[in-house]
Amino acid sequence: MRKWLRERVMRRRKKSPETEQTGRIGQERPAGAAPLIPSYDFDSPGRTEPRERFERPDRPERPQRQERPERQQRNERPDRDEARANRVEIETQPESLASPLSGQAIPVAPHRQPRQPRGVVVLTIGLPGSGKSTWYKRRGITPLSSDLLRTILFDNITEQRYQHLVFSTLRSLLRARLIAKMPWNYVDATNLSPHERKQWIKMSKGFGYDVQAVFFDVPVEVCLERNRRRERVVPEDVMRRMASKLKPPTFTEGFSKIVVVRVKGSAGAEGAEAVE
Ligand code: UTP
Ligand code: MG
Repeated sequence: MRKWLRERVMRRRKKSPETEQTGRIGQERPAGAAPLIPSYDFDSPGRTEPRERFERPDRPERPQRQERPERQQRNERPDRDEARANRVEIETQPESLASPLSGQAIPVAPHRQPRQPRGVVVLTIGLPGSGKSTWYKRRGITPLSSDLLRTILFDNITEQRYQHLVFSTLRSLLRARLIAKMPWNYVDATNLSPHERKQWIKMSKGFGYDVQAVFFDVPVEVCLERNRRRERVVPEDVMRRMASKLKPPTFTEGFSKIVVVRVKGSAGAEGAEAVE
């Protein structure tokens, strides 16, 4: 019995070269079927990517792995060597750590040209009635504005619902302009606090744009006076609450330029005019 078992085990072991082991259970390789062997064709002119990940060996003969000349050729490519030479610096360690660095190159950041912005995003900052839309109108500019969107979305410039929808759509529109690489982009909104401005600045800078501020430094009394004479009147308590939220823009927020617009003459004076 023992002999019979030993012979059986020996017979099984002899089969192993023809077995493709997958985990613990081996399967006999089908007769005549050859294994899949990776083949990379870097020789073809203009070819940079492997032609196929795997190729059947019944194709024309390919050289042995260790004799493949293409590997050497790949290492000898001039473009690779050049890139390496420009990026690698050789430094020799000193005999004494106390010796000064004279004669040795001190690593410095490579000189880079200052980055050119893709364009500019202009943000207005000011209370209702401070003259933001008038400022754009006088310059013949149609900015992205919540008024424009309310007209487009709801056929009603005075619609005050869906504020979130209006401002998220406004941001999407600016994003679309920045993707389209439009050089000048204007936003007409109150942008009273750094928190409100942050999202515009972050997006603009993320797309490589400079951000400029136009700050309407107009006394609340002037805004209230203008507001009273307007068709769309903002309630006075809302206006005063907004005035308490208003924070002048600063360069630390990320603005590259700040234009301050003030009124000529005394606050609330008839015919007060914006000056820059
Ligand atoms: P705007 O309509 O330009 O203000 O002017 P605004 O800042 O954009 O206001 P919101 O945020 O959209 O509510 C308001 C009123 O002030 C007059 C305009 O004629 C308008 O009636 N105005 C504006 C002046 O009288 N002088 C100015 O220099 C600017
Ligand atoms: Mg306006």
